[in-house]
Amino acid sequence: MIIITSPQEKISGELTVPGDKSITHRAIMLGALARGVTEVRGFLDAEDCRSTINCLKALGVRITLKGKRLFIEGRNKKLKSPAGDLDAGNSGTTARLLLGILAGQEFQTTLTGDQSLQKRPMKRVIEPLRQMGAQFEGNAETLPLTIRGGELEPITFKSPQASAQVKSALLLAGLYTGGETIIEEPFQSRNHTELMLNRFGARLNMEGSRVTLQSGSLLKGGQVRVPGDISAAAFLMVAAAIVPGSELLIKNVGVNPTRTGIIDVLSQMGAVVELHEEKLWGKEPVADIMVKADSRLKGILVGGEYIPRLIDEIPALAVAAAVARGRTEIKDASELRVKESDRISTLAGELKKMGACVEETDDGMVIEGKDRLTGADVDGCDDHRIAMALAVAGLVAEGETAVSGAEVINVSFPGFMQALRSLVNN
Ligand code: S3P
Repeated sequence: MIIITSPQEKISGELTVPGDKSITHRAIMLGALARGVTEVRGFLDAEDCRSTINCLKALGVRITLKGKRLFIEGRNKKLKSPAGDLDAGNSGTTARLLLGILAGQEFQTTLTGDQSLQKRPMKRVIEPLRQMGAQFEGNAETLPLTIRGGELEPITFKSPQASAQVKSALLLAGLYTGGETIIEEPFQSRNHTELMLNRFGARLNMEGSRVTLQSGSLLKGGQVRVPGDISAAAFLMVAAAIVPGSELLIKNVGVNPTRTGIIDVLSQMGAVVELHEEKLWGKEPVADIMVKADSRLKGILVGGEYIPRLIDEIPALAVAAAVARGRTEIKDASELRVKESDRISTLAGELKKMGACVEETDDGMVIEGKDRLTGADVDGCDDHRIAMALAVAGLVAEGETAVSGAEVINVSFPGFMQALRSLVNN
């Protein structure tokens, strides 16, 4: 599928975005492991989360959709041996978190994924799960992987990366131990697993970038209301920040501080970003986000602890930087190289086709902002966030921008183009 965007006078209006992907995965997984029924409202109905649902159904979990709500009948941590291999599709979160759960099951399972996921590093979860007692067949460090689990030993693990997927996999495995599981990260990554475990009754201590799951943690299912995904909202926020005269309100977006780096950075670049109607849904902070393009954005240096707080928003941020005044440097972001695509190289390659001035570095990129980009034929690179970023870049590029392979957007934001179109005709 090819999508076409072109310069617009302004982005304006009010809308909601689909449910948070990270929280949806966790609600389904923790619901499956809890006792009783979990009801999930506002979940993300997109390919990645369907991969999680299908894997858990294959593991004996009854999941039903009634209207717009998902009902998950928890199995009190014990799943059923699946009839065949499990397929995590394109979803790294499904694969890594599920390995944590499978590490606690007394049967053997083979987990695979699509071409992109089969290239992504799994050693980061295999090694600590092995330390806990899970057995992996052979020496594979990528999918497909065959794992046999059972009773596990608790560990204290210092993660070399700030990765919520690694942390979450180990916390889920920690539910199958009789002791304390401690995970420390270089910087705090998103903490949705901790908040939801806590909500479901598990006992946890959270101190900055260190989390301790106490022994004997039992989970009780309940109701989960999923906020809008800030990682989806980010593309529209950047659109509103770079098209002069724009004013956009995105309602009920998750604004957990471990995810709001993009709000901080866009504000520092000169956009007006305001939070309204702040509230809590369960333990997750939620707000309406207002974005106004006040003046041309200015370049910025982004690195260190900001990176885990906006890792998925860097494709959108790179577009903002491409038309900002001056230089933007993104560093400490080598994790971008092992996402759905090597996002440093795909972003640099495709944005250059639009006349942007982007140089790759090992762990990020340097972007010299230009007044305007040039419309071009670009490719989504099999990566939902690259495809959406390029469509947004087309809003500030002379002529037309045609993004091919745009069906990949369904991985996380079905309805993205309808949402964008609804904001340009107001
Ligand atoms: C996610 C964690 C992040 C993020 C991904 C979703 C999660 O990955 O990039 O899109 O839901 O835990 P890492 O844990 O690899 O940083």
